[in-house]
Amino acid sequence: MSRILTGVQSTGRPHLGNILGAIVPAIELANKPENDSFLFIADLHSLTQVKEPKFLKENTFQVAATWLACGLNPHSTTFYRQSDVPQCTELAWYLNCYFPYQRLKLAHSFKDKSDRLEDVNSGLFAYPMLMAADILLYDAEFVPVGKDQLQHLEMTRDVAARINHKYGDIFKLPEAIIQENTQLIMGTDGEKMSKSRNNTIDIFESEKQIKNTINKNITTDNTPLENPKDPNSSTVFKLFDLLASTKNSNAMRDSLLAGGYGWGHAKKELIEEIINKFSVQRQKFEHYQNNPSEVEEILQNGALKAQKVAQKTLDRVRKNLGYN
Ligand code: TRP
Repeated sequence: MSRILTGVQSTGRPHLGNILGAIVPAIELANKPENDSFLFIADLHSLTQVKEPKFLKENTFQVAATWLACGLNPHSTTFYRQSDVPQCTELAWYLNCYFPYQRLKLAHSFKDKSDRLEDVNSGLFAYPMLMAADILLYDAEFVPVGKDQLQHLEMTRDVAARINHKYGDIFKLPEAIIQENTQLIMGTDGEKMSKSRNNTIDIFESEKQIKNTINKNITTDNTPLENPKDPNSSTVFKLFDLLASTKNSNAMRDSLLAGGYGWGHAKKELIEEIINKFSVQRQKFEHYQNNPSEVEEILQNGALKAQKVAQKTLDRVRKNLGYN
């Protein structure tokens, strides 16, 4: 049994690109019976950028409801909110005191963020040590992350090794599992789907809103209805192809090539495909939206499990450092 742990940013409701590119593959990994999985919402990390209590709460809820709606099993995966496990901030402090300032200064993520953001706070700077605490607290062996997080993983191993060197083997050194988006999900403008590009598709919106997004945001050329059309240069077709069965996708391709089939028809099929393909997820999401206390209960149960493991590690650390 391998302990796998990963943190998810709480940046509001995930879109189709996040779901297909990151969430579904992560759930598949977490649900494997040979893995002992920990998955948490990194809402303490969010505080480096989000200062509005209402958003902080709402973002966490939206992310949690999305993961649950997409099939995360909270019985087999320890699913919790970072801020419900205060042991994490305590460990982060210890780690900060063992990690050279000069090394932390080399973090790409800090340079990148401090160039872009107005609020360059110390939390942003110490971010990698909070992340290291997230990981070391649970003796995680494998940490699935995107490439951009690799340096944080190196810092985690580095600080763990420094402490182990002085006190003996307190921490397990975690290994990264690089999770590059297995598939690139195209947005409504044909570029990579991302929040900042405003080209996202939100599968949890009402049917009417989804219709609106597809009809208004995907541009099509004005080839007359009766003429043949090129499927390969069409965002409508590419999105349909990504979601639909091979048979249905081939049928749309043939119709477009044959002519007498318009972009309006294709868009209608794409909208139906989105609604049907995600009908279970949409129902579940709506259920959680109407029963937020269920999500809360799941997260709190997860926190209890997480705290138990966390406290054991922290006791070990405190003892070695001289705080017992
Ligand atoms: N920093 C990660 C990200 O931006 C999120 C995160 C926080 C994380 N703590 C973690 C990921 C611990 C893996 C393990 O995506």
